[in-house]
Amino acid sequence: MIVVAIDGPAGSGKSTVADALATALGVPHVDSGAYYRAATLAVLRAEVDPTDVDAVTAVVGRVAIDRVDGRTLLDGEDVEDDIRGATVTANVSAVAAHPAVRDLLLVAQRSGIARDGGVVDGRDAATRIVPDADLKVWLDADVEERGRRRALQAGEPERLDHHIADLHRRDAADATQMVRADDAVVVNTTGLSLDHVVATVADLARTAA
Ligand code: C5P
Repeated sequence: MIVVAIDGPAGSGKSTVADALATALGVPHVDSGAYYRAATLAVLRAEVDPTDVDAVTAVVGRVAIDRVDGRTLLDGEDVEDDIRGATVTANVSAVAAHPAVRDLLLVAQRSGIARDGGVVDGRDAATRIVPDADLKVWLDADVEERGRRRALQAGEPERLDHHIADLHRRDAADATQMVRADDAVVVNTTGLSLDHVVATVADLARTAA
């Protein structure tokens, strides 16, 4: 059983790499950002201001968020598609900034890891969620490259400037949460293919196991 933490900014490839690596290693992929996204959806549905810490904490405290087979469940409802939309993305950093929300979601993010291991991706996976991980990786890429990937994913290659501006905004909004562990291996993915990055990180994981 192995535990790997993969952190880095939006668009660095964390989620895609974590997914492929988890498959290669035969352990679950724990997408820690999905919990913040589902919490944000609950907050928006309750028509609560994402900056109102008391109201946000109350909403997040009474919902159940689970991940099953790569899908995100909010009180049992599959919300995987809803949580990837622009409205949730625009509000998630504000919800994730509340320490009380982070404490509430930590338990769910960690559940199963002690039993099954896992590849955990996020902003603070290595420093907070699984500080005893066998391997900690910090994935990064130039903001232009991250913007290109996001624009292609969104099917909007002509809106590159918009996606780069959005990444600058999220990097700034996530700055407090985005902590690079001192013992993380830094992998800059600029100009590298997904296969190359997965192979590099899988080699690191096999050595660390
Ligand atoms: O990784 P993803 O883009 O889905 O994360 C969504 C948001 O959740 C991030 O922009 C950040 O605000 C928050 N997040 C966090 N800590 C994590 C993972 C995500 O604060 N470990």
